[in-house]
Amino acid sequence: MPWTVERSGDDKAGLYHALAGELDALLTGEVDPVANAANAAAAIYHALRDLNWVGFYLLRDGELVLGPFQGRPACVRIPLGKGVCGTAAAQRRSIVVPDVAAFPGHIACDVESRSELVVPLLSGDALLGVLDLDSPLVGRFDAVDRAGCELLADVVARHLST
Ligand code: SME
Repeated sequence: MPWTVERSGDDKAGLYHALAGELDALLTGEVDPVANAANAAAAIYHALRDLNWVGFYLLRDGELVLGPFQGRPACVRIPLGKGVCGTAAAQRRSIVVPDVAAFPGHIACDVESRSELVVPLLSGDALLGVLDLDSPLVGRFDAVDRAGCELLADVVARHLST
């Protein structure tokens, strides 16, 4: 299917709106959460620039467990409140880490990762997990990426909870 790809100089807010629509179309019609999270990780990884890891940690019995992803193998279990993922999940808010070396408690899965964006997946009040994006570039994610990935996470959350 056609898929928007980020290019230098793009209107990033517009790019994320286009991606959100495409992601919704991609996931609509399938109810299996693993299939939808897998396609979402692949779609986001191939659409955005300068990423080395994109994937999901899903809430299982009170901790985050690795879900579908693109990138190198990653740590499997993250307690709520630990690392960037566990902190974003516990606080139910997105976190941009411009330089992972400066985030106390950052969990290093891939030594290439230099900056990170983690967005909680929420279905109403229920926490489903997090969307995690890693970049090999310091300062890769700004406020537009954060708002844009919140849009993408909303789409994914809707297709995980059906
Ligand atoms: N860096 C994350 C762990 C997950 S990996 O980046 C894939 C963290 O600190 O929670």
